[in-house]
Amino acid sequence: MNRVNVRHRNGEYDVVIGAGVLAGDHLRNAIGTRPAVIVTDVNVAPAWLGQLHAALPHAETLILPAGEAAKTLETVESIWSLLADRNFGRDAVLIALGGGVIGDMTGFAAACWMRGIDFIQVPTTLLAQVDASVGGKTGVDLPAGKNLVGAFHQPVAVLADTDTLQTLPEREYLAGIAEIVKVALIADEEFLAWLETNAVRLRERAPDAVVHAIHRSCEIKAAIVMADERERGQRALLNLGHTFAHALESITGYER
Ligand code: GLY
Repeated sequence: MNRVNVRHRNGEYDVVIGAGVLAGDHLRNAIGTRPAVIVTDVNVAPAWLGQLHAALPHAETLILPAGEAAKTLETVESIWSLLADRNFGRDAVLIALGGGVIGDMTGFAAACWMRGIDFIQVPTTLLAQVDASVGGKTGVDLPAGKNLVGAFHQPVAVLADTDTLQTLPEREYLAGIAEIVKVALIADEEFLAWLETNAVRLRERAPDAVVHAIHRSCEIKAAIVMADERERGQRALLNLGHTFAHALESITGYER
């Protein structure tokens, strides 16, 4: 397994990267018998919810609609409603199983429930593994703009199982590759050269190449986030390409 350590103003966490991470004891060890809710979506649940539930049989599950159009306060309210219904308190843990949308909403729900509880990220897309899983940006969209409401709330652990990428649709996979290229462009010429040399193997999802690309991207992002957690300066580098694309998402009603 590969690990990237991320330190922040309230503590630190590890991003654990590799094939079979979810089959290990990471979740059980991190959560034990604490009350837990696995939050996921209708696309991811059939593939991965069973494995998480086997590791945490006592956990509640909440299956949300998929896609950016569902990243709303109303959807997050359904997470809070479940927590309220079960009388969950500050010892509860939320587990975000899915892509960036699920991670952003679950993290935001955790940031606000009783003014802040723990959450764990289990990113299942390449984009979420290299971007949303590091740095603690959480939130929802408004009709007026993307991510306008949110909080910086860091996860307590991130489990990036590369097995989840083998069934990812090509377009989703390439969105993650584009993000990896962006990270190399802004920070590491040597990594950019490595990406050019290994482009075909990455495109074919060769496991060792994929793990290296995720590991190096997370290292670079972690270094930037640790230097500027609240985006007062250099963290804005990570928005290269995002700002422009967020505007496109906004004007298409988050449907495209
Ligand atoms: N996605 C950009 C950032 O985390 O700062």
